[in-house]
This record gives sequence, C-alpha cells and structure tokens, in this order.
Amino acid sequence: MAAAPQTFDLIFFGGTGDLAMRKLLPALYYRFRDSRGTQGWRIISAGRQPLSRDEYLAYVAEHCRRFIPAADLDETAWSAFMHQLEYVRIDARDAAGYADLANRLQNSAERVRVFYLSTAADLFADICRNLAQAGLVTPLSRVVLEKPLGRDLASATEINEQVGAIFNESQIFRIDHYLGKEAVQNLIALRFGNAIIEPLWSRASVRDVQITIAETVGVEGRGEFYDRAGAMRDMMQNHLLQLLCIVAMEPPSSIDPDAMRDEKLKVLRTLKPFSPEDVRNKTVRGQYRAGAIDGKPVPGYLNEDGIGADSCTETFVALKAELGNWRWAGVPFFLRTGKRMQERLAEIVVNFRSVPHAILPMAAAGGDNRLVIRLQPDEGIKLYLSVKVPGDEMRVRTVPLDLDFAEAFQTRQWDAYERLLVDVIQGKLTLFMRRDELDAAWRWIDPIHAAWHDSGDRPKPYAAGTWGPTASSALIVREGLSWREDA
Ligand code: BG6
Repeated sequence: MAAAPQTFDLIFFGGTGDLAMRKLLPALYYRFRDSRGTQGWRIISAGRQPLSRDEYLAYVAEHCRRFIPAADLDETAWSAFMHQLEYVRIDARDAAGYADLANRLQNSAERVRVFYLSTAADLFADICRNLAQAGLVTPLSRVVLEKPLGRDLASATEINEQVGAIFNESQIFRIDHYLGKEAVQNLIALRFGNAIIEPLWSRASVRDVQITIAETVGVEGRGEFYDRAGAMRDMMQNHLLQLLCIVAMEPPSSIDPDAMRDEKLKVLRTLKPFSPEDVRNKTVRGQYRAGAIDGKPVPGYLNEDGIGADSCTETFVALKAELGNWRWAGVPFFLRTGKRMQERLAEIVVNFRSVPHAILPMAAAGGDNRLVIRLQPDEGIKLYLSVKVPGDEMRVRTVPLDLDFAEAFQTRQWDAYERLLVDVIQGKLTLFMRRDELDAAWRWIDPIHAAWHDSGDRPKPYAAGTWGPTASSALIVREGLSWREDA
C-alpha cells in the first residue's frame, strides 16, 4: 500500500469542472482510500457557481462517483473522503472572492499548499495575481497549470512571465498527464534499466517510430474550448511531443528533474522545423463527419454543441517529424492523434530494420521486429520476434513476447493523475514540463499553424469511426511504410 502523501491543502480552481469530476477527485479518492493517516488532507474546490458545501457535495456525488467503478467504491472511505472536501465560491478574476479562501487557509502557512488551476489558461495570470494579493502564496506553495498553456509561443510566454512573477520555477508544475501513465514510466524503465536496449536504440537498428493517440470520443461537452484549440494544441503540442521526447532522448545522468528535462529539451530543439512546403507534404489535418462508433451513429464535428458552423478546427492530425542528430538522422517519427477514430488506442511503436539478408521463408506478411508500448486501453509492452511455426517445414512468423502489466503485477494500475498529484504534493518535478520545454514545443508548432492558416485549406473530412482521412495513410505509404493497424 502506498504511503500517504504528507499533510497538505489542495485548492482546485475549476472545482466544478469536467476534469475535477472525471479525473482529479477520483484520483484523490483512490489515494485517500489506499493510504493511511490522511487526517492532514484538506481539499478546497473553488468555482464560480454559488453553491453551499452540501450542494457541492451533492454535485460531486452526482457527477464524480460515476467515474469510479462500483467495485472500487468503498462507502466508508468515500464518506470520509467527502469530509475532507470544502467548497468556496470564487470568480477567478474578482479579487474580492479570495478573502474567503484566505480565511479558510489561515494559520496553515507551514503546510504544503497546492493551487491546481484547471481553468482556461487565460485565467492563470489573474488567479496567481489574486492569490498573491490575498497573501496566499507561501514558500511551501505550488501551482499546477493544466495544458494547453496558451495558444502559441507569444501567449504562453505572457502567461509564463506573469505566473513566474509570483511563483518561482521550482514551484510551477506544468502538467501533462501522459507522463504520469504507467506505460510511460515503464518506457523510462525499459530504456534506462536494461542494457540490451540501448545498442538497438538508434538509426542503425530502428526504421521508423509511430506514436498514435486515437480516441473514440468526440468533444464531450467541451465544444467551445475544443473549437478554439483543435487537436494540434490539445494533444500534439503536449502529449505526443512529450512521448516523442521520452522515446528519443539521450540517457540522462540521473532521474533528477533537471537532468531529465534537459534531455527532453534537447529533443524538442532538435526537431527539424517545418517550412510551408513541409507543412503541405508532411502534415495532414482532418475533421470528422457523421459516422458510427461501435455501431452507434454519431454526429459530425460541425453539428456538435459549441462548434462554429463553418469551423476549420482540426480533430485529427498526422505528421512526419524528423530529428536532426546523429542518433536519429533519417528515422521518421510519425505522430498521429484524432477524435472519433475507430478504436481507443494509445501506443508507441518502434519498428526495427529488416534482417540484412533473409534466408528464412515467412509464414505471414511482416516479420520485422517491433516493440510496442501500449498506453491504453490495456497497458503493456510487446516485443515482436520471429519464431519458427511448429511443423516439419522451416517457416517463421512474428509473435509477441508479451508483458501485460495488469497480469504481471496483479494490482490496480494507478491513474496518471494519482501519480502526478502525489508528485506535486511531494514536490517532485521530474514528470512536469519546464518552461523552456514548453517554449521549444510551441516554437516548433507555431509555423505549422501559420502555414495551415495561410493555405486557406480546410481540414480533410473523415467519417467518424475510421482511422482518419485517407491522406494520413498516404503520408506513411509514401515512405514505403504503413500504420501498424494496416500492416
Ligand atoms: C486531454 C485532452 O489532455 O487528454 C482531451 O484535453 C483528451 O481532449 C484527453 O480526450 C485524453 O486523455 P486520455 O488519458 O483519456 O487518453
């Protein structure tokens, strides 16, 4: 059983929001349930709605409990958890509301204090300023910033400057929940805990890398936010680029935050910039039309709530990235993400080069070695090796050497937010983005947005329930390769 995080006050801005209900409160419930000695916890949700504490608890019961499977709901633990929960009404931009929060936090300056900002990024600076003015920022305070942080380098810089005027960098936790996923931790363990991997981990042995985060859900009631963001800002700029960093980084000298983040930063700075022509040739953006998911009809993006009638926002992006360094020169990294795709799937596929001279007949198509790190739905690692098919003939086929984490460890996997919240409370920055990483990511993404905008093209349509526009297959087929599900 995990040790309880230390005593803390955790203040959620966006306390009635979707993320709080779906992820943050369930994550804390699990930590609370599985920890001992949690009297020192205090969770204060801040929101704009005028709710009494009882009304907020009823709201949580209605909107949050359904995200915790019944088998995991221990009623005694749940009601003890609810006792830790308070609600305070704050309009983020209105300094007046912070007095109530200050009253509640009186005499607790010696406790770890976490401000979790799960609001629109354009409120971050105001919230931080108001917290400071109300005297709430103590040396033991930390602030968590949800992504996407800004919409481009200029807006991210402004937010970072303003937040940085109140909190120092070691107090700022820029969260990317993909880094908290068990499989990503395992990729780090696989790469840096096994001597046999490193000699294979370069252009000499790797042919291409594919990173896919495919979702079957649409915009899920977040239409207004999503229509301003799109898949590039919502997923590519952060989750996919961070996964790319973990795959491609040089071994850091230690697991210390800055050692890891220095290496990730080098990867981001090594990404080859896209010219407008590259954007035309190496990126594909799509937007879903009506279709079916699991046999059920779903509307097209333009008919979802909160979406502009003529919206050009992309719900799908695929691109070919390249790194300009010795280890990876010439190895394409294909990145792809989309909503309303055929399957919910997040995985990293490392395809190795073929044997230099084939002497064995293959029993089936394919046959090259491949390492698949599956983040979801079922987290695990598979290494595909060629083995002989039983029988008198000498024929080989690739079969996976399969490590299913759930089976191997017979234990519930922590949700990414559980790990990351515990890390924040314990002050561990390793899995959070440093400002220069974020800047480097925007610097690479901005020209792509600009070229899309200047081209005047619309995103390519794809039917919900498919793998995206056909141009996405063409992007990879052109290189003589295919996405894994087509292989
Ligand atoms: C979030 C995005 O960061 O990640 C959402 O804002 C997306 O649009 C979600 O649905 C996906 O996370 P996960 O962990 O469910 O794959």
